Amino acid sequence: MNRRLTAPVGITATGQCFPPRVVTNDDLSKIMETNDEWIRTRTGIGERRWAEPGTGASKLGAPALQMALDNRGMKATELDAIIVATVTPDTLFPATACRIQEMVGATNAFGFDLSAACSGFLYALTSAASLVAAGGVQRVAVVGVDIMSTVIDLEDRTTSVLFGDGAGAVIVERVEEGLGILDFEHRIDGSGGCFLHMPAGGSASPATAETVAARDHYIHQSGSEVFKKAVREMADNSRMLMDRNGFAPEELKLFVPHQANIRIMDAAAKRLELDPSRMMVNIDKFGNTTAATIPTALHQAFEQGRMAKGDLVALAAFGAGFTWGSTLLRWAY
Ligand SMILES: CC(C)(COP(=O)(O)OP(=O)(O)OC[C@H]1O[C@@H](n2cnc3c(N)ncnc32)[C@H](O)[C@@H]1OP(=O)(O)O)[C@@H](O)C(=O)NCCC(=O)NCCS
Repeated sequence: MNRRLTAPVGITATGQCFPPRVVTNDDLSKIMETNDEWIRTRTGIGERRWAEPGTGASKLGAPALQMALDNRGMKATELDAIIVATVTPDTLFPATACRIQEMVGATNAFGFDLSAACSGFLYALTSAASLVAAGGVQRVAVVGVDIMSTVIDLEDRTTSVLFGDGAGAVIVERVEEGLGILDFEHRIDGSGGCFLHMPAGGSASPATAETVAARDHYIHQSGSEVFKKAVREMADNSRMLMDRNGFAPEELKLFVPHQANIRIMDAAAKRLELDPSRMMVNIDKFGNTTAATIPTALHQAFEQGRMAKGDLVALAAFGAGFTWGSTLLRWAY
């Protein structure tokens, strides 16, 4: 079944924001038992950005949204809604969407946070587009932001080297017929929850001295389980989406996968029978920024002239939950 929206809706502008502090693999080798060669060959990551301690997600999310607004030539007061995808909100409540709303001055917007880890941006994009297609609102901002440096355990070298901080934002509106989001397919599978999670800090295990001592407020991950499932679901879900819309892989101008590990991305592209030159890669500079990987990759791809109006683009994500999804669109501007 095609999940076509009831009206043409797409992305009309992008923006991004990264903290200035660059952390190289050599920097990490000074604080843990690791080295540049291991990290590069196993993950494709050369460096990442880490925010200064005390930087909340809104501090990166608001400038990213402001850049998207400026690129669109739109005032914040014209926004009807703000959806923020994040697993590292400023606080559990109020929502980071409220902070970003205040910082950019979006005085006519409602908004909320959405928690779907590395698939968060795709789910937020679909939610925003569905709201616009339904006709209740006209202009929605989607922000994908994570401050992963606050939840990595520096005593766990296998996981902590993977993640970085960043924010990407897009504006979602009605677009010309034939452009924008063509179709999407998203899934969740709670049986995978134990393979990638933060055990404490929620209602099931509130913060106590014991949870802090057990390091349960950090990411816990079974890397190889996540690896295998990520390759399979990102590739097969995207392939199914292409097939049901009658597109061959060579018709894709750009494949923009979640940037988790270059080996996952390469394996997914191979399974998709896609020429690697058509895949957007920026993991070498930014690592895995969770909800921010796809919107920042889109922003950079557009800035680099790698896609233009009418081009066919596929987005694919996989993350904690498990959550995964793909979205097929024609670039709208
Ligand atoms: C985490 C990941 C990079 C580990 O790669 P891997 O090839 O599976 O590596 P392993 O965990 O098997 O470890 C291999 C060896 O490297 C060592 N190692 C692990 N991290 C290291 C590091 N940072 N530096 C140096 N050595 C390291 C291990 O201790 C192990 O040593 P041993 O063989 O002596 O026991 C990989 O599993 C992965 O990317 N998984 C997906 C994670 C992900 O993307 N999560 C987010 C999804 S949204």
